[in-house]
Amino acid sequence: MTRSANQIRQEFIDFFKGKRHTFVRSAPVIPQDDPSLLFTNAGMNQFKAIFLGENRDGLSRAVNSQKCMRVSGKHNDLEEVGRDHSHHTFFEMLGNWSFGDYHKKDAVRWAWELLTGVWGLDKDRLFATVHHTDDEAAKLWVSETGIPTERVLRFGDEDNFWEMGETGPCGPCSEIHYDTGDAADREQVFRDPAKGVNGQDGRFLEVWNLVFIQHNRRKDGSLEDLPKKHVDTGMGFERVVRLIQGAESNYATDLFLPVIARLEKLSGRRYGHGAEGVPFRVIADHIRALVFAITDGAFPSNEGRGYVLRRLLRRAYRFGRELGFRGPFLHAIVPAVVDMMGDAFPELRERREHVVQLVRSEEERFGQTLEQGIEIFSQMMERSTAEGDTELSGADVFTLYDTYGFPMDLTRLMAREKGFTVDERGFDELMEQQRDRGREATRRGDDAGLTAEGWVELQKIDGTTFVGYREDEAEARVARYKALRPEGSTDACVECLLVLDQSPFYAESGGQVGDSGTLTARSGRELPVVDTFKWNDMHVHKVVSPTSFPLAELAEPLLARVNTAARNQTRRNHSATHLLQAALRQVLGDHVQQSGSKVEPERLRFDFTHFKALTPEEIAKVEALVNEWILADFPVATEVRDTETARREGAMALFGEKYADKARVVGMGRVSKELCGGTHVVSTGRIGLFHILTETSISAGIRRIEAITGMNSVAYLARKEDIVSGLTATLKTAEDGITGRVAALMDRVKALETEVARLSQDRAGQQVASIIEEAGRSGDMFPWTVKHLGRVDKKGFATVTDAVSDMIRQRNLATTVVVLGAVSDGGIMLSACAGPKSASAHGIHCGEIVKAAAQKAGGNGGGSPTRAQAGGKDPDRLDDALATARGLIKQKAGAS
Ligand code: ALA
Repeated sequence: MTRSANQIRQEFIDFFKGKRHTFVRSAPVIPQDDPSLLFTNAGMNQFKAIFLGENRDGLSRAVNSQKCMRVSGKHNDLEEVGRDHSHHTFFEMLGNWSFGDYHKKDAVRWAWELLTGVWGLDKDRLFATVHHTDDEAAKLWVSETGIPTERVLRFGDEDNFWEMGETGPCGPCSEIHYDTGDAADREQVFRDPAKGVNGQDGRFLEVWNLVFIQHNRRKDGSLEDLPKKHVDTGMGFERVVRLIQGAESNYATDLFLPVIARLEKLSGRRYGHGAEGVPFRVIADHIRALVFAITDGAFPSNEGRGYVLRRLLRRAYRFGRELGFRGPFLHAIVPAVVDMMGDAFPELRERREHVVQLVRSEEERFGQTLEQGIEIFSQMMERSTAEGDTELSGADVFTLYDTYGFPMDLTRLMAREKGFTVDERGFDELMEQQRDRGREATRRGDDAGLTAEGWVELQKIDGTTFVGYREDEAEARVARYKALRPEGSTDACVECLLVLDQSPFYAESGGQVGDSGTLTARSGRELPVVDTFKWNDMHVHKVVSPTSFPLAELAEPLLARVNTAARNQTRRNHSATHLLQAALRQVLGDHVQQSGSKVEPERLRFDFTHFKALTPEEIAKVEALVNEWILADFPVATEVRDTETARREGAMALFGEKYADKARVVGMGRVSKELCGGTHVVSTGRIGLFHILTETSISAGIRRIEAITGMNSVAYLARKEDIVSGLTATLKTAEDGITGRVAALMDRVKALETEVARLSQDRAGQQVASIIEEAGRSGDMFPWTVKHLGRVDKKGFATVTDAVSDMIRQRNLATTVVVLGAVSDGGIMLSACAGPKSASAHGIHCGEIVKAAAQKAGGNGGGSPTRAQAGGKDPDRLDDALATARGLIKQKAGAS
């Protein structure tokens, strides 16, 4: 009986539980507190701190199945995906760990026992590799598993030394590979660098990696020994499922088949194992990555991990064209992924709708520019081909990226299909230039000051001590300074950056803006601090002084004083932001997650995940709830806690935000608990009135609320009050009469507009009747007239022309010809209408008449023999134009 993927995962976990391992849930695929990673890329990520020596929970053995992505950074498999049958952007890594407990011997023994004993994989197909220096592991493979010595192969650092990233825990490793080929030539090929173990052609599949973690890679590239030795293993779940299920491809297992079946159904195409199957495989792979990453809180955007997701989605969407899709389709496969994976990862079920909607709207957006981009791409290819190039220029790639949203790898892929390469260097340069422009444009363009150069150090410190939670002022000493704009001599300056040993100034972080205030020197001089930001644990105060001051004053202690009024207003807004988040989750649901915020004295801004616009009722509810909690006057309690414990107890934290082991937890009654380093009011009552100003969308699936508190709300209400009393005076009604009065006025305006339209139509009718009559009096071979209507707007002119044309038709005036002219804003208008027989009987052509006439006035136009219009620029020449028309008609009318 074939085992299902779900069974296989469970058997792995149960096997190691049987060996006294503790099951640990998969960490989110979006790392919670490791800025060195965009995505979780290995099972060991969540245990990094333990390897580095902090094992607070005393965990000695663990087992899990970890959600991983390898689309960026050190481990990136994107280019392989879909072309082969064994690499993925998203995959599960089965792992078992020893934290300073068992080492190589048990790791090897148990791996073998599970693969061959429990799962019954063919021993003859298995090979082991070890680091070329690791005699111990090589011996253990033979003694513990009975694998023949010649099947234990030695490789160098590239294959057998595993590192998580640029820095972090690492060590030599030992891998198990499986031969998917024939027994017949196995002995000949397994050592072959191209086809054998670690070869590129895919016959030998790496199944399991056992890493013997014993070092830490430091920032400077050097290795340090860890105090203890550990084991970190990682098995490719999709691969082992394929081997156990006897499938020829990861995509032919029950992990992918339902997704592929869904794609077949939607596209009406059949999946095939060869090159024709690439689009199916890419889409099936990418959609899994999107579903898992979005579920864990990421969303497509223009930077960082958001951009990685955008790239994946766009790539998958583009491959959809090869299956005949011309509109959004990816969202329709999301449920197939959720059904397959939802038992093991219940969070997928919870956030299914959110994912579907987000994917859909992102697809819709891209769909709009894709067709255009593909057209431009073809033109670029044609041009390059004509010029004899086989490389698409960096400028072209950049245009596709910048204007049409084509990620670099999508363009590379499309170019490759046409036998082209792309100029990646040129593209990177243009990207860098754009980034520079962006940096210059930001408010903090002068952040450039935050580099290591140019500082004058007065005192060595590890970091600035922040005393601003309790104090608004403190005496401080300058640890270092950097003059940004020296004035006159190098001894004085008007603008500088200062680092203080201790400071009451909050440095921008967690969405809260940096404090402003003053530094008072011994001399009594006040130096205004306009902003404060963090740099390497130091608080950098930006001083902009109205007059030049001597730098020598910085050697003396200063009195640092924050602008208390602004700070208090910031406190209110920050505390209100916490309440707002709690209220949104209560009213809209737990899918609401903070995706950004800005807290400043004037207002607060909170961005969060939610798909639809809030209804006015929802906004009112959220606002009321926050105000209720303010009135309840909950004390705001802050305490420094162990980060993990606080999180486990439900403290809200930001995705992707780095928190140290200990973090400050800010609680308000029972309604809110967040990890936050910001400054807050002492009790919620101090927030004052909370009012939501706007609720808008900032990108697909992300909403933004802007709100005000305290005196800002009071001022806001006062302004409203002014408007209302102005209205009551103007409308001469009481306050509750305003709405009714305005509605009545609107009705009245509408009625008057209808009346005006009717009157002007009547007038046009009369005018037209007299024009036609005038034509009748021409006394020539057919009735005609050329009429100057004076100054008329475009719409009025069209109305008269239409009415003339209608009257000619209705009254069967078969040969009547009317030319009209008028002056409008900045130009002239001409039109001509003629009866149906005027052309055949008299050779009249309205188009030609107005064209000739308009040309006289520096314009142009044309039309059919019976109806034409034209325009010109020069109002002074309308008479000439009309005279031309008159002459042309007269030629025909007076011909007899
Ligand atoms: N951390 C190891 C890997 O990812 C097991 O291969």
